[in-house]
Amino acid sequence: MAFKIGLLGLGTVGQGTAAILLDRSGRHPLLQEIELVRVGVRSLSKSRTIALPENLLTTDLEAIVTDREIDIVVELIGGLEPARSLILKAIDHGKHIVTANKAVISRYGAEIFSAATEKGVYVLLEAAVGGGIPVIQPMKKCLGANRIDTVMGIVNGTTNYILTRMQAEGANFDEVLQQAQELGYAEADPTADVDGLDAADKIAILASLAFGGRIKLEQVYCEGIRGISATDIDYADRLGFTIKLLAIASRRAESETNNISVRVHPTLVPQLHPLASINGVNNAIFIEGEPIGQVMFFGPGAGAGPTASAVVSDILNIAGIITTSSSGVGGAGSPHPLMTCSHQH
Ligand code: NDP
Ligand code: HSE
Repeated sequence: MAFKIGLLGLGTVGQGTAAILLDRSGRHPLLQEIELVRVGVRSLSKSRTIALPENLLTTDLEAIVTDREIDIVVELIGGLEPARSLILKAIDHGKHIVTANKAVISRYGAEIFSAATEKGVYVLLEAAVGGGIPVIQPMKKCLGANRIDTVMGIVNGTTNYILTRMQAEGANFDEVLQQAQELGYAEADPTADVDGLDAADKIAILASLAFGGRIKLEQVYCEGIRGISATDIDYADRLGFTIKLLAIASRRAESETNNISVRVHPTLVPQLHPLASINGVNNAIFIEGEPIGQVMFFGPGAGAGPTASAVVSDILNIAGIITTSSSGVGGAGSPHPLMTCSHQH
């Protein structure tokens, strides 16, 4: 059985994803069954680091999401529109979805998952939080037995890169931000990174997973790193702290139920805390639950290769489930609830 992929977007993550799909040797055997058939972009003439056969590229993204030949649509254009409409149209045409778009999921997740459930298709989003770090599937599949009290972490690579360089070498904020953009870490509009909005999208998704129900963005207090100066970093260091932009979702102490505090802000982290040593573009998500205690997921939080690792793994997960269910192993072909973010309904 072959799986045909329609890719929307050929920027940092799109090119990383295409690179894996076109160089399959030594990787998962199921990749041999996965074929990249269309790639949607804004500009056909833009120079790119990856060379694709010209007939793959198109500016007609609507044609990709409605193409009967395509099984899985991979949305990597980012932003709200046309990403939301294209995802919904693809679902309506029976396509499975893989996306790295935390902005669209944190705002329109309920609408998207509901449409997916109705159509019996999968929506996977591992790359939307933590770049290459496996965190969404492990939270869903391996921590379900726990009562989660706190999910806390560094979930934005750009700001962690900036703060690390400011702390280590006294680097200038604007210059390091520009480098983060050149390295492909930052969002198309880096305001989303530096003002904490990207981290807010991500913690809303993680909190929805951890605590059930849908955490709305309006519930997330959000403060970015623009106000952090070299002097702040220096004083923090002398007092035994490192300044990190943390995203924190926690059950309020007095609450037995769903009274959840969700926030993003620069935080003084004691230098001995594991989150204090997460440097550069790395992210880490620290979870406290009962009965597991403390768990931390760590790794590269942005960039072409790491993010594409999560995207292609989602493609493989969908292909693997479909292959298994159509071979009769594992029962009916309808999606397993854990594979659609049904918790966000
Ligand atoms: P880029 O800006 O590098 O790439 C976006 C791509 O989408 C480009 O190829 C662009 O086309 C295309 N595109 C954008 N808008 C349209 C449109 N209206 N019509 C057609 N094509 C369009 O983004 P990234 O690759 O960095 O990010 C993609 C997604 O992945 C975002 O949701 C981001 O938040 C997420 N993400 C990014 C990470 C990273 O490290 N960069 C990490 C984790 C998630 P063209 O090339 O012709 O301009
Ligand atoms: N701009 C994001 C970051 C990309 O810096 O973390 C990964 O989601």
